[in-house]
Amino acid sequence: MRSLIKRCLPQAILEPYQMKKYGRFLWMKLQTDGLLGSDLYEAIHRTFLDNAIGDHDIVEVGGASGSASIAIAWALNERRCKSKLVVVEKFEGGTRAQFGGYNENYQRFQSFIKRYGVADRIILFADYLTMENSQQVVDLVSSDKIGGMMLDADGHIHRDFAIFWERLAPGAPIVIDDYHPDTSVKHELTYHLLNRFIDWQLVERRELIDDTFFGTKGSAESIAALDLEECERITKEVCERHNVL
Ligand SMILES: C[S@@+](CC[C@H](N)C(=O)[O-])C[C@H]1O[C@@H](n2cnc3c(N)ncnc32)[C@H](O)[C@@H]1O
Repeated sequence: MRSLIKRCLPQAILEPYQMKKYGRFLWMKLQTDGLLGSDLYEAIHRTFLDNAIGDHDIVEVGGASGSASIAIAWALNERRCKSKLVVVEKFEGGTRAQFGGYNENYQRFQSFIKRYGVADRIILFADYLTMENSQQVVDLVSSDKIGGMMLDADGHIHRDFAIFWERLAPGAPIVIDDYHPDTSVKHELTYHLLNRFIDWQLVERRELIDDTFFGTKGSAESIAALDLEECERITKEVCERHNVL
């Protein structure tokens, strides 16, 4: 009887009930196949709700199926601000391959952000982020400053800092996943690069939950503090150690 009711009721009616029963972060994570724990989605949501600086657009690199995007966009909705979340996602290969190709992954993302009521909050750049196309992404930000960053793509966080850091508002929240010395190439790269960014005062550490780093924009005077040669040296060393190109 119960499963009959579940099958017959429209999703729009069932969804609020399930979110209440399981908790909205756990339910959303399970439905979207989010790669982080539900407690992390809750912490990300809290960060962009409580530590927000002004009404500025947020940038996320590595949106996957939209789980962290939804958590951040919920915070923007609850703040009743104007700002948007600019999400960059390539929608193919790696963790996306299990859900199909580019089109399937693109559709999944679109359907999830609609289902969780945040489609109007999100501006999507559906391609690889590279230094070459970075201006196209920066142009999608309509506020003069960026209100925060969520980085969870491929560990090449020096690219993300080089592109967005200068425009970040002072004290803006920065969340970076996979900060660990040896779990994977991505973790190792993130760990060594981020440690240098802390030394260079580009970012200040606030909290670490599991492998997810929560910080704020640091007090460095400009992005000139980012030593790209040193970042490339770290990248080469980590990749060579793991036989990755
Ligand atoms: C670990 S997943 C992100 C997980 C997501 N934060 C979540 O909560 O489920 C990393 C994502 O980054 C994307 N990605 C990796 N490198 C990228 C790049 N250079 N440009 C755009 N997206 C990229 C991958 O396609 C993948 O979906």
